[in-house]
Amino acid sequence: MTVDPNAATQGFPGPEPARHDPGAARYLVPALVAAAVAVVLGVYGKVHDPAGTAFNLAGFSSTGAVKSWLATAAMFFALVQLVSAAMLYGRLPGPAWSGTLHRWSGRAAFLVAVPVAVHCLYALGWQTYETRVMWHSLLGCFFFGAFSAKMLLLRSERLPGWLLPIVGGLVLAVLTVIWLTSALWFFRTFGVTT
Ligand code: HEM
Repeated sequence: MTVDPNAATQGFPGPEPARHDPGAARYLVPALVAAAVAVVLGVYGKVHDPAGTAFNLAGFSSTGAVKSWLATAAMFFALVQLVSAAMLYGRLPGPAWSGTLHRWSGRAAFLVAVPVAVHCLYALGWQTYETRVMWHSLLGCFFFGAFSAKMLLLRSERLPGWLLPIVGGLVLAVLTVIWLTSALWFFRTFGVTT
C-alpha cells in the first residue's frame, strides 16, 4: 500500500507538528547562567580598582587569617556534603536525615564562602602575578558559576542520574583547589594562627 503524502489535505490527520524539545533547555539554561555568572565576576574583578580594604575581627590577627579560617569552614561543610551525598545515593550507610544534613551543610558552606569571595573580588580583584594566584582567581569565579548551575539543575526534573553527582563533584573539586591555593598557602606561609 502506498501512503499518499497529501493525506492531511484529504481529511486525515497530518504528521504531529514538531514539538520543542525541553531537554536541551534543561542543560542549556544552567550552562549559560554558569558561564554568565563566572564571566561577570571575572570581568568585575579585573576592571575595577581593587580597594585593598582590610578588616579586623576580634580574636583574629589579620584579614587573611579570618578569610583562611572561613574558607576552611567552607571546605569542612563541603566534605560533609560529599559524605551526606554518598549516604543519599546509598554508597554509605546513613540516617534518615541525610537529606537535611546535605541541604544544611550546603547552605552553611555557601554562607561562609560568600563573604570571603566578596572580599577577594572587591579588595584584591582578579590577579595573575603568580600561577597559584591566577588559578585561584579563575576557579574562584568558576566556582560561583558551577554552583549556580547546580542550584538550577536541582530544580529540573528527569535528569540523567549521573548529572548531579558530576556537577556536585565538580563544585567540590573546584572549592578544594581554591582552598589549596589560598587558605593552605596562607597557613603554610604565616603559620596556623587565628
Ligand atoms: C569561593 C570563593 C573564594 C574563596 C573561598 C577564597 C578564599 C581566599 C583566601 C582564604 C585567601 C587568602 C587570604 C588573603 O590573602 O586575603 C584568598 C586570597 C586571594 N583571593 Fe580569593 N577566594 C575566593 C574567590 C576569589 C575570587 C573570585 C577572586 C578574584 C577573581 C579571588 C582573588 C584572590 C586574590 C587575588 C587573593 C590574594 C592571593 C595571594 O596573593 O595570596 N578569590 N582567597
